[in-house]
Amino acid sequence: MAAPEGQWVLMATGRSPTNIAVIKYWGKRDEALILPVNDSISVTLDPGHLSATTTVAVSPSFPSDRMWLNGKEISLSGGRFQSCLREIRKRACEFEDEKKGIKIKKEDWEKLHVHIASYNNFPTAAGLASSAAGFACLVFTLGKLMNVKEDYGELSSIARQGSGSACRSLYGGFVKWCMGKKDDGSDSLAVQLADETHWNDLVIIIAVVSSKQKETSSTSGMRDTVETSPLLQYRAQTVVPSRVLKMEEAIKNQDFESFAKLTCADSNQFHAVCLDTSPPIFYMNDTSHRIISLVEKWNQSEGTPQVAYTFDAGPNAVLIARNRKTAAVLLQKLLYYFPPQDKDLSSYLVGDKSILGDAGL
Ligand code: DP6
Repeated sequence: MAAPEGQWVLMATGRSPTNIAVIKYWGKRDEALILPVNDSISVTLDPGHLSATTTVAVSPSFPSDRMWLNGKEISLSGGRFQSCLREIRKRACEFEDEKKGIKIKKEDWEKLHVHIASYNNFPTAAGLASSAAGFACLVFTLGKLMNVKEDYGELSSIARQGSGSACRSLYGGFVKWCMGKKDDGSDSLAVQLADETHWNDLVIIIAVVSSKQKETSSTSGMRDTVETSPLLQYRAQTVVPSRVLKMEEAIKNQDFESFAKLTCADSNQFHAVCLDTSPPIFYMNDTSHRIISLVEKWNQSEGTPQVAYTFDAGPNAVLIARNRKTAAVLLQKLLYYFPPQDKDLSSYLVGDKSILGDAGL
């Protein structure tokens, strides 16, 4: 059968926020399918601050698949992009727009090429999980364009094949990535623990210690950890399973004390595992350590945690304040000890944890 013909272009645009893990994903048991060694839990941010916006288009006049990231053309030949495209195309359904005279049959989607333009409103690859928002948005938007009927859980398992943490950005609120047991990865997907209206007191402040590209990517860092760290096995098999249960309880009951203790402990253990890797990986720097000390001292002096901290694969601090009042005090303290534009810190991003219901299409 011939591919559809004509001068038309069909487009869809979507927006997905990034997510911040409070129980970290670090280590794969299957590199190709991106299957993790443990469950993880995250908070999806409000899309106003750290999000990817993606427009995808198909047209009979496009001779090949192409993609632009922040205005610059990038290669789509990587296995991760190809996995996402292949999985979405497989699930594409017939589409018809009588007014515009467009009819695309299920089998036509294989023959139509896509153009993808994606923008991040934050620094790419600076440890601010840009790939999470990017792949979640790509899969969500391609799914819209190609009339895919699968639910968000199924889409999350496709986004996972772009970047592990991306599967958690399909949902707002609090999200768990269940590692799954099956070898084909079909049960390794995200589930929403609580929606974006739950626990709205929380305020997230991100201290951008450095917006430079990180030296060791998450992908290669976690590969080295899996190969060399004896601590990782203990973390994945003994520590994380019980931590995940406790974190689910803390989120359900809006128990900030437990939430903060678990979040900080898990961030610290993730970085300990990085140090336990050979050669050791240093994602945090002196400024990150000073921020941890500031928060720890403050929490101790109050007798109960006011703020939780967590650091991903970079030096930037994600600080979660128990409410707006605390967030205001935190910001004052940060501005006093770490003035922006100083050598230590470039800027602050402040936002709610909540996001729009359906990734903002
Ligand atoms: C430290 O999802 O970026 O942010 O699956 O190889 O693309 P790949 O890695 P990625 O790793 C994120 C690691 C983390 C922790 C987390 O988000 O859970």
